[in-house]
Order: sequence, then C-alpha cells, then structure tokens
Amino acid sequence: MGPVTPTETSPRPALRVCPLLHTADPRHSAWWRHAVIYQVYPRSWADSNGDGIGDLPGITARLDHLRRLGVDALWLSPFYPSPQADGGYDVADYRDVDPLFGRLADADELIARAHELGLRVIVDLVPNHSSDAHAWFRTALAAGPRSSERDRYVFRDGRGAGGDLPPNNWESVFGGPAWTRVTEPDGSPGQWYLHLFDPAQPDFNWDHQQVRSEFESVLRFWLDRGVDGFRVDVAHGLVKRKGLPDHRARTHMLGDTEEAAAHVLDGHAPEPTHQIPYWDQDGVHEIYRSWRTVLDSYGPPDRILCAEAWVEPQERAVRYTRPDEMHQAFNFDFLGTPWIAADLVAVIERSLLAADSVGAPSTWVLSNHDVVRHATRLGFPPGTRRPNGIGAEDPQPDRELGLRRARAATTLMLALPGSAYLYQGEELGLPESTDLPDQLRQDPTFVRSGGEEKGRDGCRVPMPWTRDAPGHGFGPGPATWLPQPKVYGHYAVDQQDGVAGSTLELYRTLLRLRRELSLGSGSLAFVGGYGPDVVAFVNGNADGDRLLVVANLGAEPVVLPDAAEVIEASAPLGDGLVPTDTTVWARWPWRAGHRTTDSLDA
Ligand code: NOJ
Ligand code: CA
Repeated sequence: MGPVTPTETSPRPALRVCPLLHTADPRHSAWWRHAVIYQVYPRSWADSNGDGIGDLPGITARLDHLRRLGVDALWLSPFYPSPQADGGYDVADYRDVDPLFGRLADADELIARAHELGLRVIVDLVPNHSSDAHAWFRTALAAGPRSSERDRYVFRDGRGAGGDLPPNNWESVFGGPAWTRVTEPDGSPGQWYLHLFDPAQPDFNWDHQQVRSEFESVLRFWLDRGVDGFRVDVAHGLVKRKGLPDHRARTHMLGDTEEAAAHVLDGHAPEPTHQIPYWDQDGVHEIYRSWRTVLDSYGPPDRILCAEAWVEPQERAVRYTRPDEMHQAFNFDFLGTPWIAADLVAVIERSLLAADSVGAPSTWVLSNHDVVRHATRLGFPPGTRRPNGIGAEDPQPDRELGLRRARAATTLMLALPGSAYLYQGEELGLPESTDLPDQLRQDPTFVRSGGEEKGRDGCRVPMPWTRDAPGHGFGPGPATWLPQPKVYGHYAVDQQDGVAGSTLELYRTLLRLRRELSLGSGSLAFVGGYGPDVVAFVNGNADGDRLLVVANLGAEPVVLPDAAEVIEASAPLGDGLVPTDTTVWARWPWRAGHRTTDSLDA
C-alpha cells in the first residue's frame, strides 16, 4: 500500500497532535511490558487422541501456529486434575495434570517445545477456591465442625433456628446462594461453606497460614518446571471483610450487573468494588507482595503475575500492579467499552494514565473464555448490554458487521503501547456459537441462573483447523466436546493461511509490524481534528518511527494526512479514504521540529 490520494469531495481536516499522554519505554524494557500473550483454552484448542477434548500433546503439536502468528507467549487455562465442574477452574490437585489433558511429562514437553520456539508459557493459578474434590476439602468435611481442617476453608454455622439459613445473604457469581450446607459425618444437617462460584468450588480461608504457604509452594513447583508466569484467577477475591457482613446484590463475571451497567450507561462513575465485602479488600495485597518475592528469586528473565481482578475504579485496580506486586492486570474496562469513539478514547486515556501512575504497562484485551467473542459482540448495536452467552432464540448479531468491527478493534488494540492478550480463534475472526442446544451446555451458570443466562460455552467451542477434515481437524477423528457451528469450516486455519486479506493474515501482519516498530513500548499522543467518530493517535518509538493510527467509527469516510503512507488496514481503503468501521496504520513523518501542540494542517 502506498501514499494516499484523497478525493476532492473530502476536505482535509486540520489535525492537531495533542501533548504526549504516555511516554515510550526504554528500548530494551522487560518482555512483559509489551508482550502479546495468546490464551489457549486447553479443552478446545487441539485434541491429540480423538476423544473430542483438547489436550497438552495436542497443544504441543500445534505450537508452530503461534510462532507463525507472531505472539510472545501463551497462557494456558487450567489443565490440573479436576472434576471439571467449572471447566477446570475447580482444581483438585495443584501439582499435576488431569488425565483428560495428559500427564505431567506432557506439561514438561509443552514448556520445553514452546521455549525452543521462543514462546513463553504462563499457567493459570486458582487461589480463591479449590475443587470440592481437593484432599483438604474432603478432610475438612470428614473432620467435622470447628476442626482445624475446616479452618482452611470458610465454614460457618447457619442462621435461624437449627442453623437452617445460610450464614449471610451473599450470592454466588454463577447465581443462587454463595453457601451450601453440608451433612456432618454423623448424618446430621451441619455447617455451611462459602463458595463465591459453584458449590463445587469452596473458597479458601486466606487468613490461614497453611493456605498461604501451600500456594507459595505451588508457585515454586511450576517455576521449577520452567513456567514464565501465572495468570491469577479472581485475584481480588481472596480476602473477605471481617465478620462477613451481608451485601445487597449479586455480582456477575467481570463485575458487571444489570444495575451497575445501567448506572454507568446513565453517565455515573462505577461503584467502587471494595464496597462489596468479598471483593478487592486491602488484605489481598500483602499476599501478592510475598508472591512477587518468590517470582523475583527465579529471574532474570522476569517471571510474571497477571491479575484477573474485576475492580473499579481503575485507580484501585492498578494497586495490583504496584512495583512490588503483580506485573500486569487484565484491562476489562477496555474489553467492556462499546464501539463508540469517545468511549474508546476515554478508556485508552484512563488506562494509560492509571497504569503509568504505578509504573506498570497497561494491558489490552477484547476476548477471553468468559465473554461473548468480540467478532459477535460487536455485531450488536453499540451500547447493547454484553450478554452472558447467546441462544438460538435470542436476538442474533450481524455477523458480517461484527467481523468488520472486530478486525478494526483489534487493529486499534495492537497499536496501543503495553501488553495485549488474544483469545484462541480470534485470529480467525471466529464468531461465537449462538445456537448450542441447551442440553449440551456445560457452564454451571446456565443451570444456576435457571437457564436465564446461557453462559460461556459459546466462546469455548473447539477450534477449526482444516475445513474438510472431520471435526475441522480439531483432532484425529470427528469428536468435539461441543458441536462446531456450520460456519466454522469457512473460518478454518487452512482457509486463511496465505490468503491475502484474511483475518489470520491481518493478525500476522499486525503482530509483525507491532514488533518491528516496537509499538508495545511506544509513546502515545492523540490526534485531534477528526471529529467525534474517529479515534486517532500517534505511537512513536525510541528510533523515531511514528505510526499514525486512525479508526473510523463514523458513517462517513475520512481522509488521511498528506504524507501518511498506509502500511496496514483492517479493510480495503478503496479510493484512499478510511471507510466506516475501519482502522488504518500509516507511517506519518510529520513536520520535523513541530511542537506537539502546533496545529498541523494535514
Ligand atoms: C474466572 C475464570 O476466568 C472463570 O472461567 C471461572 O469460572 C471463575 N474465575 C472462577 O474460577
Ligand atoms: Ca484428547
């Protein structure tokens, strides 16, 4: 793509480069400050033995896909022994591999092969709760009330006559009460235990010293096997407010409730998460400080911690990434931002300023295993509340529009300084499965919400690798643990590999350019003058390269400045203008010696 010739009908806007919002990192800053990390959901990526469930040998055999894609690291969702009540986020043994996924030796091989290919490996750590099949929980049940074994979890007597009512009114994130009553070893109705998620996921008591030392030992176990870091599940949930006081509302995955979303859409600031007595309590931070000491003892290169913490406001969220705590935290604010230019500008600004205030990189993410894929989400009108799963009888997205916007959104995201997370299949433009039969759904949310929320299965459907192979090449046979939608063959890797303009090739190009231009450690200054429907900024690096990024969310095409040389675009530019729902990357050698506040007549 070469220089752009605007048409007569499109007047050139007078552009203005705003003052620098974020300053470039030094050229050789630590890898995690700018890394692109690809999330693999092991159950659904590649199956080696034909049982229809993805596994570790399957992942190892396909790692070359990631090398060719151009990411820096992969994050594996849990593969530990587990009854799979919540897709493995119910861990029965933190130091082994579930036979479903392979053996411990397969994890060693995966790590070794990834390292040979220059990929780092991040594993999932689930410290808020274990599985009810964990040896500690079984011992706790057997040992009876007020035993030291029960003290490693959160057991309480019930309220009311006979202790028949739960100890407080907390609700589980998956719906229903956050407490389940046990039957005591003598057969009598007994105490209740806390589970912020499924009843099969009892919460640990983090005031207990043994819980703390156990997790430090688990960190060492995996660090000794060579992992490069941990994604920390529900990092904001470990410590509960003393006395476990009542709280009025249920919180959802990623922290948004119908009520909270409406409140924010009405223009109010989100309610601070730490008002909820089980989220974002100050006591969590000393835990991460001690973990940081463990990790630092293994570097260099740095081993990292990334917080999954649904915390508002961002000033509180970035406390997880202070210099002596975690390295990164997921930016769910960005993920939740509607396809509205002013909202995107605001979230980018907020995120960079907040992260800079603690010296951490911002992160960026659009999809993961808990949310409707962004190629589908963006196929609904902007501002539509993000659904928790979609069923055949629900309003359906505009698939073409969703993909067009998803490509534009990713092209915008990958130009932002900081670290970015990708979710498996998004590099194919994969849509959500929106017509899974209810009887096949496995997400506990579906049952616990009485079917009101379809849940997360639709984003967890096995990957299509080869259009014309059984199961689209997911495994050696036709079996896939969830059925693949009919359209998945069209999105298969082999249909896009080497095909100019395919989503896979777009991702490959963006990732290559991002690396070559050091965009992950670049600076950012917004560019003003385009009007309210455009997000435009400049990312500059230490070598003096400058990339102009223009995302047009408006209905009318927009013009690029004179000297801009387009190097990639999420959709064809046609007559040289940036059409609607398109993001462009362009080299832009603007006048030397200008001050950033000068008006630039583009
Ligand atoms: C967040 C994980 O991403 C999600 O999949 C899981 O259900 C909950 N934490 C509980 O572990
Ligand atoms: Ca398998």
